[in-house]
Amino acid sequence: MTQVMETMQLEFSEKLSAIDNSKALNELRVEYLGKKGKVTGLMKEMKNLSNEERPAYGQKVNELRNTIEGQIAELEAELSKKALEEKLAAETIDVTLPGRTLEIGGSNPIDRIVEDIEDFFIGLGYEIKEGYEVEQDYYNFEALNLPKSHPARDMQDSFYISEDILLRTHTSPVQARTLEAQKGEGPVKIICPGKVYRRDSDDATHSHQFTQIEGLVVDKNIRLSDLKGTLELFAKEIFGSEREVRLRPSYFPFTEPSVEVDISCFKCKGSGCNVCKQTGWIEILGAGMVHPNVLEMAGFDSKEYSGFAFGMGPDRVAMLKYGIEDIRHLYTNDLRFIDQFIPTEDGGEQ
Ligand code: PHE
Repeated sequence: MTQVMETMQLEFSEKLSAIDNSKALNELRVEYLGKKGKVTGLMKEMKNLSNEERPAYGQKVNELRNTIEGQIAELEAELSKKALEEKLAAETIDVTLPGRTLEIGGSNPIDRIVEDIEDFFIGLGYEIKEGYEVEQDYYNFEALNLPKSHPARDMQDSFYISEDILLRTHTSPVQARTLEAQKGEGPVKIICPGKVYRRDSDDATHSHQFTQIEGLVVDKNIRLSDLKGTLELFAKEIFGSEREVRLRPSYFPFTEPSVEVDISCFKCKGSGCNVCKQTGWIEILGAGMVHPNVLEMAGFDSKEYSGFAFGMGPDRVAMLKYGIEDIRHLYTNDLRFIDQFIPTEDGGEQ
């Protein structure tokens, strides 16, 4: 090696030893081996040499180039190994950290009550029917013996989509639709759960949207005692085996006679408490014998067929059963509320 080459080699080694990243290494590579690099510059000196001197000189420059290339490759390998080690260290997973647990959701108490009630009536051979929340005036009112000018419409003011289309105010239109579809042929035995709407101002016991379950039985020889017997069984199943049922006269345009149905209070067992407002009885539904006009409008012969119908509010049942004071809790989806109803493994609640 010539003096110049030796100096260049030393200088290169010194610079190389200070390098700790691949960017700087690349710059150094260009500085020495690039087109305008120092080693390449030595090659260009060849033209100033005699023919005899050239081969030996060329060989020396090549040796220098090889040495430098080798040194660069060595450091390159070292740097990439280091980079990999650092990456692995940074990505280490701490398997002792606690994992993310899956939250178990609770079901809304209304859904539970609806399911319990459905199960009970399915056991008695009832079919579940669902209707439409956006309903025609005809099925919501007229076919239920509530003509356009009927004053009882005032009790159920609704949200109107148009003159003849509204959000249903009760689940009773499912009665009218089901009867009509039967074309005058019994028996009919259905329950119809669903959401209903009324133009009420919301407070602790009223909501513009709530839930109802309708029941309807139409066949030959159905009597009021069948209604009472069915509701007695129902009350014992849902509220406890000692419950009693009481019917009080009432009025609905689509039933005649009409009744309000009370059950004996499940908290005080009839002696009077805050749940039953000291009366010993809790009102849970409206019911009655299907009005002959309703049967006739749907194409049934009211001399041959009779039936009973009832409508209840599972919201109220849920509020009574779980001691919920404000109906709005049932509809506002606050998880702190819903989480209180997470089922336990034995099928009960927490
Ligand atoms: N539809 C009535 C209401 O919403 C309840 C009811 C249903 C009464 C069936 C009698 C028979 O108030």
